[in-house]
Amino acid sequence: MKQYPYILNDLDGLSRLHAYSGMARASWSLEHFDRFLNVYNGYASSVFQAVCRLSGQRVALKVYQADKLHVISQQQLMREARMHPTLDHPNIVNMYASFRQGGLVVLVMEWCNGGSLLEKYLERGSRVSETMAALITRQMASALSYLHGMHIIHRDVKLENIVLMNKVADEMTGRMETTYKLADFGLSINHTVERSVTRAGTGNYMAPEVLRCPMKSLPEENKDREDLAYDCSADIWSLGVLAFELLNGRPPFPRNPTDDPYLEEEMERQRQERMLRSNELRFLVPASEPAKQLIKRCLSSRDQRYSASELLGLPWLHAESTVVARERRTSENIKQSPASRQPAAGPQALRPASLPGVSSSAQQQPEENQGWMKRLHLSDG
Ligand SMILES: Nc1ncnc2c1ncn2[C@@H]1O[C@H](COP(=O)(O)OP(=O)(O)O)[C@@H](O)[C@H]1O
Ligand SMILES: [Mg+2]
Repeated sequence: MKQYPYILNDLDGLSRLHAYSGMARASWSLEHFDRFLNVYNGYASSVFQAVCRLSGQRVALKVYQADKLHVISQQQLMREARMHPTLDHPNIVNMYASFRQGGLVVLVMEWCNGGSLLEKYLERGSRVSETMAALITRQMASALSYLHGMHIIHRDVKLENIVLMNKVADEMTGRMETTYKLADFGLSINHTVERSVTRAGTGNYMAPEVLRCPMKSLPEENKDREDLAYDCSADIWSLGVLAFELLNGRPPFPRNPTDDPYLEEEMERQRQERMLRSNELRFLVPASEPAKQLIKRCLSSRDQRYSASELLGLPWLHAESTVVARERRTSENIKQSPASRQPAAGPQALRPASLPGVSSSAQQQPEENQGWMKRLHLSDG
């Protein structure tokens, strides 16, 4: 594999001072944290829950073995590590700092205690009520409106990349309130700084104009191709897919993987043709007309799509009370709906962490971990 040392050198000096009380400090180190729990292992990174020894605050650490990454992933990590800590919005996971320690790059974030939206969605039988779909769509539209105002395309809006923060909203009654937060800026790009010309994202969620872009093996490839450039409206397509999936139990244009590459290519070609004919969008469950119209406009050609701020003005996203009756009628369907997705690693899959480069004193404390796992499991419901 060809190494591009200049990219890794650019990862130096990313440690940031942060205004949040308790998390502000002059320099960062993994030694500041203990009680690691490994909650996720992905292709390029692992996510841990940990506790900050200095502030006592619970955090999420996303740890990359940066020196082992392909040059394209290194470039994406550099964007994530630079961009995410500068963002400040209630529906975006707060990142305190990003720093480099040896071959690792560590992103320090607020810990979101409610798991991912994918876990919640699967728990509910792969479908949520129209009220909840509207609420989630509104909060994501708000996050996107903020990002798009800065010309940042997230490029990977999907169930897995939304995490939940549960907080007590009313001390008297103990009523909990959930805030949905957009996470994972691993594919984000500022399209006024760099031309976005790469097929990046997740199959079922990618807009047609993203799907038609070539994959690439070097960062500078295709950057001169003005004809390929896409913009923030690609995220609106993904948000439309998300809203459809929340209501219907499956994405609107699911890919059908097969073992036959020729067949798969042909099916993918047909799928992409269907994507361009939004009038063919079929809803699998009864949904209100405003919900259908909103989703259809998100899943239309780029110039027909709403912007994120236009979405925020639509009554459906705010008229939570008017859909309650319909939800009662469809609640039986929800129970019968076949889950179209396999569960991801949920709370049961949490395991004590083994983190390269961290001293043994900064390792897990199993009894405490078990208690924490139980608490998370209960608060998930
Ligand atoms: N701040 C956080 N708080 C709690 N869990 C998180 C947090 N960030 C990520 N996670 C969990 O880790 C998973 C993977 O994180 P993500 O940033 O999406 O990694 P990847 O880039 O590998 O997709 C998420 O789906 C979520 O379950
Ligand atoms: Mg992710």
